[in-house]
Amino acid sequence: MRKPVIAGNWKLFKTISESVALVDALKPIVDKTRSVEIVVAPVFTALSRVSEAIAGSNINLSAQNCFWEEEGAFTGEVAPKLLKDVGCSYVIIGHSERRQYFGDTDLSVNKKVKAAVSADLTPIVCVGETLAERESGSTFTVIEAQVKNSLTGIPAEVVARLIIAYEPVWAIGTGKTASDEQAQEVHLFIRELVARLFSPGAADKVRILYGGSVKPDNVKGLMAQPDIDGALVGGASLKADSFASIVNYAAS
Ligand code: PGA
Repeated sequence: MRKPVIAGNWKLFKTISESVALVDALKPIVDKTRSVEIVVAPVFTALSRVSEAIAGSNINLSAQNCFWEEEGAFTGEVAPKLLKDVGCSYVIIGHSERRQYFGDTDLSVNKKVKAAVSADLTPIVCVGETLAERESGSTFTVIEAQVKNSLTGIPAEVVARLIIAYEPVWAIGTGKTASDEQAQEVHLFIRELVARLFSPGAADKVRILYGGSVKPDNVKGLMAQPDIDGALVGGASLKADSFASIVNYAAS
């Protein structure tokens, strides 16, 4: 059984005090939830205070990016072991906004994933096609290349512990969610690909999240799909009540 993960990607939103206020509001409304792994990903500057605020709760901490080296003359970068040091257990890698605006490629994603695993973080590796790629019929080719190249050289038993997030770029922040069937189709494709590239055991264990305009009113249908193991939530994670409704999707 794969434990569902609901992760909130706060992107470039919220000051330190706003971030702490959000988790303080979230804690009491999700504190009974045991069946879902709850993750929040604040901006770097808020990680330390959010880490203190969630100590002893069932909320886990993620960063939104990392570098692949442990230390050195790399101005402006943050190493995985420093994320571990501040209390993160997850890190989002290769989000489409990073691929689009900050030059992340499958090669850099691959290095970051390996570095994150070495630092004992669970990477949330993002893949997804653009609208033009979907419309030209190349969704599966694009996803296959991203998964293959982002995870190259990683042993099957490590892949089993990773989280992959399928986020169609056309669905991010647009209010246009993939239909349950469109998402399931790609999730199944990714799982079969992992079986082929790594092992059936890794495919069975790896958790594949859907991301792109997940809201309280569409999460249930998505989560009912056999190969959707959770959600990576942007906009709807910025308010405690909407994120809590997504976390507690099974109760609604
Ligand atoms: P969204 O963002 O939920 O606002 O579409 C999802 C994401 O980018 O991870």
